[in-house]
Amino acid sequence: MEDAIALVAKTAGAADVPAALAAYQEERSTEALKLQSAARNRMRWFEDVARYTRLEPWQFTYSLLTGSQRIGHANLKLRDPGFVADVEARLAARHRAAPPRPPMFLPFELRGMTLENRIVVSPMAQYSAEEGVPNDWHLVHLGARATGGAGLVFTEMTCVSPEGRISPGCTGLWNEAQREAWRRIAGFVHGASRAKLCLQLGHSGRKGSTQRGWEEEDRPLPAGNWPTMAPSPLPYLDGISPPPREMTRADMDLVIAQFVASARYGLEAGFDMLEVHMAHGYLLASFLSPLTNMRQDRYGGDIAGRLRFPLELLAAVRAAWPDRPLSVRVSSSDWAPGGLTEDELLAAARALKAEGADLLDLSSGQTVPWQKPVYGRMWQTPFSDLVRNVVGIPTIAVGNIYEADHANTIVAAGRADLCALARPHLADPAWTLRAAAEQHWSGQWWPPQYRSAQRQLERNLERAAQMTGAV
Ligand SMILES: Cc1cc2nc3c(=O)[nH]c(=O)nc-3n(C[C@H](O)[C@H](O)[C@H](O)COP(=O)(O)O)c2cc1C
Repeated sequence: MEDAIALVAKTAGAADVPAALAAYQEERSTEALKLQSAARNRMRWFEDVARYTRLEPWQFTYSLLTGSQRIGHANLKLRDPGFVADVEARLAARHRAAPPRPPMFLPFELRGMTLENRIVVSPMAQYSAEEGVPNDWHLVHLGARATGGAGLVFTEMTCVSPEGRISPGCTGLWNEAQREAWRRIAGFVHGASRAKLCLQLGHSGRKGSTQRGWEEEDRPLPAGNWPTMAPSPLPYLDGISPPPREMTRADMDLVIAQFVASARYGLEAGFDMLEVHMAHGYLLASFLSPLTNMRQDRYGGDIAGRLRFPLELLAAVRAAWPDRPLSVRVSSSDWAPGGLTEDELLAAARALKAEGADLLDLSSGQTVPWQKPVYGRMWQTPFSDLVRNVVGIPTIAVGNIYEADHANTIVAAGRADLCALARPHLADPAWTLRAAAEQHWSGQWWPPQYRSAQRQLERNLERAAQMTGAV
């Protein structure tokens, strides 16, 4: 019906019919893509229904009703307030949280760490460090987001060695000066907020020695390059990036030792959690993907071979980081022909879990420049749903999650334990505080310095909602 209405609106009385049809096509093609995506989610839900049979009946029902990702928590509440109230009460009871609340405000426990809510500030490179030392920019950036209410704040990919940096502006954790700078930031976050702080550790591999994100991303530095290494000597950008050196066993030992040393510095600096970055085409990711790992030895070949080095490294990091939560970020798909398959993703998730990962953070892509991702709202959440419900490990969903309703629905349906938001937090460090005010949730902790804003924001948001008829 909407298509028909749009067609009439564009063509009725139009002098130039081909132009009117083109305008119609332009307007409706996005809608068609959205419908196709919803249909795909819906089809997958029914095809994979066995994966949801472990959910309790009320959560199974919730997952079914929201399975297309078109109907969310708020919409379901309009249709059946009693059902949603029941779901919120059961979720609160499951997590020993009283009173019932919007699901994004449920606490979350992992290996002795308790998060206030399910919102995560996703890792975001700031390209603003010198010699790998985080500075006032990082203190203010991370501090503002911690006081902004998210339960967990990630550092950007922090590199384990100078050669492991993406750009000269990346943060690092390979010496004591860097450790002390991070200790100051962790001290602020812990003193001024209730957020926990996660250190993301990574090595850039063949995507290193490149320009800052806002310059010519992924392109080599015009001067001052350093040699890169990777599982196989394939350049990232053909004819543009210098080919990396194929790693030897000695290189692998060195990188493991560097990750372990950085993890130890991380403990001393006071981080609550650690994430090993195995996504986005960086060093460890390029072992996992069949598009970037052409090795003929035991570190290449099938998924077991491609996992061998990342798993060895994870085991060493786990030993150096024994008591606090450990996460791994992976690229769930390469979005390119011949890339990582779904079965391989599941095999990797099982192996990472067995090697000591407490949590998996399901991102995707950036393995090869010719990737063709299918973007949309919550576009990577199906990977989190798959891994969480098939492998049985807590997960983080990330990617175009930007409304409180998205987060509420993802958590309540059991598609992820945590929701990471990156770009929304760049524009609004206090995204979580605002979401709490919007939903009249007074249990959210606000910095005492900011509390006078809370009531005013709640009132103003309520007034705005009344004006638009949403209340
Ligand atoms: C400026 C910027 C820098 C990023 N840097 C990192 C990073 O250091 N490590 C990482 O794993 N992902 C990084 N990402 C990816 C985000 O963590 C996130 O996965 C992605 O932006 C999708 O989330 P969004 O749709 O909420 O932005 C970065 C994203 C942005 C926008």
